[in-house]
Amino acid sequence: MTVISVKYTPGTMSVKPVLKMGHPILQQVAQPVTEFNTAELDIIIADMYDTMAALDGAGLAAPQIGISQQIVIFCVEDNPRYPDIEPVPDTVLINPEISALSDERVSDWEGCLSVPGLRGLVSRYNKIKYRGFDQNGHIIERIADNFHARVVQHEVDHLAGILYPQRMDDMSKLGFEQELFPRDE
Ligand code: NI
Repeated sequence: MTVISVKYTPGTMSVKPVLKMGHPILQQVAQPVTEFNTAELDIIIADMYDTMAALDGAGLAAPQIGISQQIVIFCVEDNPRYPDIEPVPDTVLINPEISALSDERVSDWEGCLSVPGLRGLVSRYNKIKYRGFDQNGHIIERIADNFHARVVQHEVDHLAGILYPQRMDDMSKLGFEQELFPRDE
């Protein structure tokens, strides 16, 4: 089943191992991208899409596949890991900057491919502006709220070496998904 449309040529699919919490690359501040529209950048992004799609992720940051550069991708379209969530546009965001547009914060459950099996309740700004570049160097500037704003804040945190448990106020709200959200047989 295809959950996210990924453009790839059969046989070239490249799903990378995802680093897990504790790996030092996930704790580093990632380097800005200095050259756009390059084959090297396109390969990194293609590998990120293949990896995100294979694991049903809502987003992925380059450090999660071991590349300490300021590149994130996100996309939510009929994702089985997030069944009740509004769609988030399919986006490549490079060298991002975020600013909060109000002080309002909302708590909701997050997961992360680098923290497999767990979910945690995380407070985030509900409305943000974000700015960055796509892979061709074109400026992206958007206002986002709700889950879209949450995904962007989560992914951009990866570029600062921050994983969502570090954003949690109440560690009693960190747990295994199957215990927190038991499913009927
Ligand atoms: Ni994550």
